Order: sequence, then C-alpha cells, then structure tokens
Amino acid sequence: MINKITSLAEYFQKYQESVADPEGFWGKIAESHHWHKKWDRVVDWRFSGPGAPDVKWFVNGKLNITENIFERNMFLRKNQVAIIWEPNDPKEPVIKLTYGELFDKVKQFANGLLKLGVKRGDRVAIYLPMVPELAIAMLACARIGAIHSIVFAGFSATALADRVNDATSNVVITSDGGYRGTKSIPLKGIVDEAVAKCPSVKNVIVLKHTNEEINFVNGRDVWWHDLINGVSTENIAEVMDAEDILFILYTSGSTGKPKGVVHTTAGYMVYAEYTFKNVFQYSDGDIFWCTADIGWVTGHSYIVYGPLLTGATTIMFEGVPTWPDAGRFWETIDKHKVTQFYTAPTAIRALMAQGDNWVSNHNLSSLKVLGTVGEPINEEAWRWYHALVGKGKCPIVDTWWQTETGGIMITPLAGITPTKPSLATLPLPGVQPILVDPEGKELKGNGVEGILCIKFPWPGMLRTTYGDHPRCFQTYFSAFPNLYLTGDGAKRDEEGYYRIIGRIDDVINVSGHRIGTAEVEDAINQHPKVIESAVVGYPHDIKGSGIYAYVICEDLTDAELKTIENEIRETVNKFIGAIAKPDKIQIVSGLPKTRSGKIMRRILRKIGEGDATNLGDTSTLLDPGVVDEIIDGAKVAVKR
Ligand code: WT7
Repeated sequence: MINKITSLAEYFQKYQESVADPEGFWGKIAESHHWHKKWDRVVDWRFSGPGAPDVKWFVNGKLNITENIFERNMFLRKNQVAIIWEPNDPKEPVIKLTYGELFDKVKQFANGLLKLGVKRGDRVAIYLPMVPELAIAMLACARIGAIHSIVFAGFSATALADRVNDATSNVVITSDGGYRGTKSIPLKGIVDEAVAKCPSVKNVIVLKHTNEEINFVNGRDVWWHDLINGVSTENIAEVMDAEDILFILYTSGSTGKPKGVVHTTAGYMVYAEYTFKNVFQYSDGDIFWCTADIGWVTGHSYIVYGPLLTGATTIMFEGVPTWPDAGRFWETIDKHKVTQFYTAPTAIRALMAQGDNWVSNHNLSSLKVLGTVGEPINEEAWRWYHALVGKGKCPIVDTWWQTETGGIMITPLAGITPTKPSLATLPLPGVQPILVDPEGKELKGNGVEGILCIKFPWPGMLRTTYGDHPRCFQTYFSAFPNLYLTGDGAKRDEEGYYRIIGRIDDVINVSGHRIGTAEVEDAINQHPKVIESAVVGYPHDIKGSGIYAYVICEDLTDAELKTIENEIRETVNKFIGAIAKPDKIQIVSGLPKTRSGKIMRRILRKIGEGDATNLGDTSTLLDPGVVDEIIDGAKVAVKR
C-alpha cells in the first residue's frame, strides 16, 4: 500500500526528497506494487538529443496493471464495492459491482476478446456511454495487453473514424445507444458510419443498453452478451513490460488533427494511484465520485485506474447534471453518501446559475473533500462551492494537470495544504515546475508570471504521440531545450503558490474540454459556401471560454444569410461533435491579415472579448479597414 502524506511538514519533506533523489522516492512507492520482475532502473530519460523524448520508468520491470487492481487486493476486498453505477434515470436500479464481481467480468470479457482474436499490442477503440461495461472493456484490454483507445461518445462519426484510423484499431466496442437526460443517442449508427471509412476494423462489439433497433452487420458485428456467453471467468494476466503501451487518448493541440497521447503501463499505474490517494486523502470506506466522462483523461485516471488501484469505491454516473432537475448532483451525493466529489468549474458555474435552493435542499453531510479540474476556477464559483456545497467545512482541491501528464500535477492535498480561491497551489512531490519567459529564460523567485514548463520527468508523463514521435518532440519539447512545455501560462505568487492563467497557444478550453482552433476552422471550411474562417476563444460566463468564429463566405443571398449560421454549426457538429459548435458566428468580408498573409488572431481575440479599444499595433495589417467592419459586426454577432 502507498502511504499517504498526512501533514504539511511531511509534504515539504517528501517534496525535498523527491527532488533530491527521484529514483529513491519513486522506487520506494513502487515497492508496494505487484511485479513479476522488478525494474533495473527507476528512471532513464532524455528530453533532447536524437529520438527525444526518450523517457522510461521502472526500466525492464514486468507487471500487469489489472493484477495490481485485483489479485493484489483480492483477499482484502473481494466483497467490497468497487463500482457504483448511477443510471441516467434515477428511477432505474443502481448497479453495484464488488471487486470480486468486477474481476470476474473483466476476466470473462478478456477471454471474449481473445476468442475474437484480439492480441497483445492490438489497438481496441472503445466508444461507449458511461456504463460499467466501459470500465470492464478497458480493464479487459489491459488484462490481455491490448491497448485501449477510448473515444468520448459525444464525438461525431468523422471524429471517431479519424481516431480509429490513426490508431489502426481492429476492434470497436460500442453499444446500441446511450442516454443523456431525455435524449437517447444512436451510438451504433454513428459507429456504422465511421467504420465504413475504417479499413482496419474487423469486428464491432455491441453492448445492448437502450434496446433500440440497430443495423447489424453479420460477420463483422458481435453482441457483447454473445461474446461472453459460456466463456470462462478464469484468465491469467498477460505479463507486460513497464513501458508497454497501456492506452492511447486523443487530444487537441494548436495545429492539425488531434494527437494520440500515449501512456505506458508502470509509470502511469504508480502515478495514478499515488496522486489519487494523496490529493483526495482517500481512506477505506470512502465513496469517491468524479463526474467526468471516461472518454476524457480525468475519467481514465480518477474514475477507473486511480480509485481501483487504491481499492476505493468509485461512482460512475451515466446522466447529466441538470436532469431530471438541477439538483441531480446533490441528490446523488446524498443517495450514495459520497465523501469526495470531483467536478469541473463549468458544472459548478452552471449549477450556481440555477439558484441556491437546489443545493440547500440537500443534506450533503457525507462530503469531506471537494475537487475541481479542467479549467481555472473563478473566485466566485470557488466561494459558492466552498460555502454552499461544502458547508464551509470541506477543503477544495483545485487540481491542475493535462491529458499528457496522466495525473494531477499542481494541487493542494485535501485538508493539508492551506488553500486560496482560484489557486492550484503547490506541485505534488516528484513534480518540478518552472516558469520561463518567451525566450526560455527561467523566472526565478516568487511574484513572477510566465510560461509553465516542467523540468524533470514524472512517472505519469506521456511517452510519445501515437505513430508520430517527431510530433511529440515538436509539440512539447522543442520550444525550450530540456523542458516539457505545458501550453499554459501561470503565475507564482509571493508565497510560491501557482495560479494557472490559461492556454498560451491556439487551444480553447470550452467547459473544460480542449478544442483546437485549427480543428474547428477545418470543420467550418468544409461548408461549401465558406471560403475562410478564423476561430478564437472569448470569455463565457458558464463555459469559461466560448468559441467565436469569424467566417468569410461566398456571396450569400438574403435567404442563405439567414440559415448559414446554423448550417455552419451543423457542419462542425458533423466533423467534430456538438462540443465544438461555435457559440458566436460572425460573417465577415475579410480577416485582419499581415502583409505576409498571417491572420492576426490577437486582434480577433480582443474584438471577441469586447475590448476593441486597445488593439495594439495594427500597422502591419494589409487592410486596416477590415478591422472596423469586424468591430461593427461584432456588436450583432449571433449568439447560440
Ligand atoms: C488543460 C488540459 C486534466 C484533466 C482535464 C483537462 C486546463 C486543467 C486546470 C486547473 C486551470 C486547468 C489547462 C490544461 N486545466 N486543469 N485546475 N486550473 N486550468 O485535460 O483536456 O488535457 O486539458 O486544461 O489549460 O493545459 P485536458
């Protein structure tokens, strides 16, 4: 078992230890895991030089992550609840799976995958709603050494096909449909459309969930229940190398298509468990609820791997925060006596806007710790969360991290680190942040603001971007030699606490979801009437940032002008998914470009923020007149 840090003094001591002797520090933590063979070296790394990055943790160690969830704990936890599943409709029955039951289901489905011919190293795409089978599918992949690539079930067929093709997945796991509040989403139909463009896919495994009619392709499609029918629950775990790939998860960046972030087995395992236990101060008997979807990294690390490695009870919620009403989160906390609750600032702001009664109607006395993730939390939302939800007695952990970091990096330890609203506070042991100026010069001391980088590897860090290692170097390690570039700006205050300011690149954080402006532009440009577009973020009360699209179209008739905005939104919905639909669309006759043809996004951002009085230097613009036109038009830009 990993020991928890229990005091601030101990935190500082461990932090010092982790910097002075990282190998000793992480080696001791990894001793508590189950290994078939121990490592030769704790870490071997290089952020620069030929083939960089080259990062290996627990070199030559052999293990299986599912043995560390199940076999390691089984004598203790066989009858303890591992997963509580709260359905979309609160009137439907809750499902509780003990560690023993979950283990059997994982082994049985693992055997089903083997029967289908899935092998170690194969990439299995998973496109499922938030049902227990999603966790079962991912753990079954890990059990047999297959690599899971989970695609959030809100992405469109095109986005799914892109991800399946990039990973050349041979199997897709989905369900007939999924519920979200009053809606039922026909997932199998979306998969059919995607798979038509995916030559690598041999089989589609279909879980019966909504019982809606689906198209079934004989020979290709297999029902989940048929696949496991009569299949044994005995399965011996595949012994994996520490650096074998555990999963791929796609995420957006400044340029191009989403990248497949690669996480490997041992380092991710150690980091997910260590961070979960310490940040949330999880104790036996606690009920942990992270409201994220498993389609995002938060769900990977803090619904599935972190909690289950710790032997925790974790909640999976299928529904949405506002259905049947805006009290759903709070009702569910009381229903399951949740002790740690982890959600996104955007959800807090949205529920705050519904009025205090939805919260004060509920007891919430089981809560001990509150957490936030995904975007900066504003002070007002922090205070509301603290006072109304936590009744002033629950520490808030504002956790900063990324898909690439695998786990939480900068955060308070619940109840241990004194907090300040809207500050992520201090790095976890083993995490060595550094702030630099645009030239890469280190900003030393406190009271400084700059670009947030990390100067030493940590076990949970990404190893590569799938199928394109040079892109990994280019994106994260080329800006400043020997530093991992996070893409965020941050401030270190007088006390040494970090405040994350937000992205410094062309990535927009919409409701805690990462969206690349180039991706949205590419989607918009698919509309036949669109000539060019430029997308920026702008401050949005609930979402943190909204998406603002400036679009140049071919000549439009009056009738076309009326419908074009919705058509553009639909185009984005089709190529990416609803989460990337622009909030504001402004049809313009030109974009502010430099003489060399580069769009000056800075200007568009300022206009989007409603701060057109201070546009800075516009002397390099090819046609300054276009700016006035855009400023005028911005006053009437149509809001969704
Ligand atoms: C980006 C990473 C990590 C899980 C969810 C998002 C922003 C994340 C915070 C926070 C301010 C935050 C950053 C980061 N972010 N947590 N506590 N305070 N900003 O994962 O999709 O990879 O996005 O989310 O901008 O770079 P992701």
